[in-house]
Amino acid sequence: RPPPSDALFATLEKAAGYYRHELMNTARGKDYFKSRGITGETAVAFGLGYAPDAWDSILKLLGSSDAERARLLQVGLIIERDNRSGHYDRFRDRVMFPIRDARGRTIGFGGRVLDKGEPKYMNSPETELFHKGRELYGLYEARQATRTLSRLLIVEGYMDVVRLHQAGITYAVATLGTATTPEHLARVFRICNEVTFCFDGDRAGRAAAWKALENSLSQVREGRQIRFLFLPEGHDPDSLVGAEGREAFEARIKQALPLSEYFIQQLSSQVDTRTIDGRARLGELARPLLERIPTGIFRELLTDEVAKVVGLKRDHISLVAGTPVSGVE
Ligand code: GTP
Ligand code: MN
Ligand code: MN
Ligand code: MN
Ligand code: MN
Repeated sequence: RPPPSDALFATLEKAAGYYRHELMNTARGKDYFKSRGITGETAVAFGLGYAPDAWDSILKLLGSSDAERARLLQVGLIIERDNRSGHYDRFRDRVMFPIRDARGRTIGFGGRVLDKGEPKYMNSPETELFHKGRELYGLYEARQATRTLSRLLIVEGYMDVVRLHQAGITYAVATLGTATTPEHLARVFRICNEVTFCFDGDRAGRAAAWKALENSLSQVREGRQIRFLFLPEGHDPDSLVGAEGREAFEARIKQALPLSEYFIQQLSSQVDTRTIDGRARLGELARPLLERIPTGIFRELLTDEVAKVVGLKRDHISLVAGTPVSGVE
């Protein structure tokens, strides 16, 4: 007997096919992607689709038996009515981004409103096939473009991934509306050693970058490169690559801030390093973060850097940072 998940994958694939078909055959979805500069070729590469403006299109198409409806419910494509007297489609009048696993199987969807409307993006709920904290949107497509990925660019949004890919930057992936989790990072570093975070040029994007740094510290290893690219205020990767093109964008990636520099810069900006109080505070802020870095050369060097800013001898910062002082371990 095939595993029950096979039937769920089949349901998701049928839905993806239906949304693709609707995109080809309705002007509304097509016009939307056109207005965002997305070509037909890109739409095919990502399997983009459109969910019609109706309460029951998926339900009618794929939910004619109890067993089928149970599967639609399980993969989050329909929702049970409050009074439990039936179901309705989760995704209505939205452009659809299928989320695929490493093997290319659709495991969920993101859907965007075409006009103003809330929520702007709607994702499939967590299901037995779809775990937001683990999946990276665009990873399958990145692999299709480049067999052996040597680097990844981590961005916030679906449109960022799609638009960058279209511009020739095919190594962009996005977390799914969640913060970058340690699980994401472990996954990313199993794939390649060079990772650049590039979040939106706004307050939320900068907060997400610092969060990503915190979660990256335990992943620091020799030979790994972790960097941060900050965009001009108001831009995201989609808008910026549209405005300035691939070469300029890739030049920015090349100049992205190494983790160590971002670390020092960010902590220094939080205190007044001209005062003893400020420098002491910096040492205190740095300590728990330095402790997350595996012992080794990188941790020693970053500790040295902090010591320099704080104006302490390295051994003192080492004591502060909880690193065994040389000769004592
Ligand atoms: P566009 O407006 O289409 O360019 O999308 P964007 O990706 O630039 O949107 P934004 O920067 O606001 O959000 C980044 C990502 O966060 C999106 O791609 C979604 O994955 C997620 N997101 C944004 N808004 C919502 C929302 O209302 N609900 C949920 N669940 N996720 C959202
Ligand atoms: Mn979300
Ligand atoms: Mn944003
Ligand atoms: Mn954005
Ligand atoms: Mn955007």
